[in-house]
Amino acid sequence: TRRYRIATIPGDGIGTEVIPAGQRAVEAVAARHGFAVAWDVYDWSCARYAETGRMMPEDGVDRVRGADAIYLGAVGAPGVPDHVSLWGLLIPLRRELDLYANVRPVKLIEGITSPLAGRGPEDIDFVVVRENVEGEYSEIGGRLHGGTEHEMVSQMSVFTRRCTDRIMDYAFELAKGRRGHVTSATKSNGIVHTMPFWDERFAAAAARHPGVETVQYHIDILTAYFVRNPDWFDVVVGSNLFGDILSDLGPAIAGSIGIAPSANLNPERAAASMFEPVHGSAPDIAGQGVANPIAAVWTAAMMLEHLGEDEAAAELMGAIEASLARPETRTRDLGGTADTDGSIRAVIEAIG
Ligand code: NAD
Ligand code: IPM
Ligand code: MN
Repeated sequence: TRRYRIATIPGDGIGTEVIPAGQRAVEAVAARHGFAVAWDVYDWSCARYAETGRMMPEDGVDRVRGADAIYLGAVGAPGVPDHVSLWGLLIPLRRELDLYANVRPVKLIEGITSPLAGRGPEDIDFVVVRENVEGEYSEIGGRLHGGTEHEMVSQMSVFTRRCTDRIMDYAFELAKGRRGHVTSATKSNGIVHTMPFWDERFAAAAARHPGVETVQYHIDILTAYFVRNPDWFDVVVGSNLFGDILSDLGPAIAGSIGIAPSANLNPERAAASMFEPVHGSAPDIAGQGVANPIAAVWTAAMMLEHLGEDEAAAELMGAIEASLARPETRTRDLGGTADTDGSIRAVIEAIG
């Protein structure tokens, strides 16, 4: 049997509820498809920070670098400032492993009602491809003169040709396997200095990939088009911040953030790629056993596909769809009545 080593970081809040659920779903397909999973579970989290002063050990990134994949829940907990939890765990993993392609599919699944009146599964099926290591999330800048009347903060957006080109290429290649259309999220009306450069690189990428249709919209009207014309989109490429915003808006029109999956890919496979739901640790519902586990399961399906286990991934997707078809096996965020356990049991029952 094939055996995969998955570095597993449940993290905080509902991360610790949905990741075990995702593991159960993977276990349910593994044996049927001739592979086994060794889960190396790490307690890296805000709880660990409270005990040790670190979200993860100093050599944390190197410990997971060689895994077959990383499966992460979410980080962030009341009492620990978000910048501590994020710069202490999530961001170093994305950057130091060079997980530059953040791939976030948005698909309205049969049986789920979109909040957009009259829209069905044929209207909402696109992928947000988000640049994941630079842009607005740069490390250049900070706070000066704290506590005085001269207090100020700044952060410099950084767009390099290398990183911009490679995320564009990723988006175009992805589009070739789909409907052959790429939308660029921009803000190039001369106010934001970085975006005319983004547009130049988008045009250069379009020239490298003839046959793929392209269009670009300013981010402000683009958010409106997501709501009014979701059927216009196939692959949407955006900077770190724009992609972040679009990848919460997308799931909202497809039913709930509670089902949204994501992959943080190192496409060259020079290091482990990381798979995490789009959602966060949801402190408002953590500990109640009601979190929707489907984002974590769909994320696991993306992980299995990355590992080459396409049949197992497809079976998991089928089981997700079956579980979402009935209100009694859907969680509250989708208008259902199930809790986390009921939802995941429905997935597992639908397998095979
Ligand atoms: P969030 O995604 O945690 O929650 C937003 C809203 O969506 C909440 O009302 C929550 O209850 C709901 N929600 C999210 N996931 C759900 C699920 N699976 N089932 C049902 N409802 C769900 O975002 P936030 O409130 O902006 O952030 C909370 C914390 O999570 C912060 O500390 C933030 O920094 C962190 N965060 C971490 C990650 C990550 O680690 N990848 C991502 C986003 C936010
Ligand atoms: C996400 C999250 C993170 C991001 C935060 C928690 C830093 O919102 O994964 O979408 O902005 O990348
Ligand atoms: Mn986000």
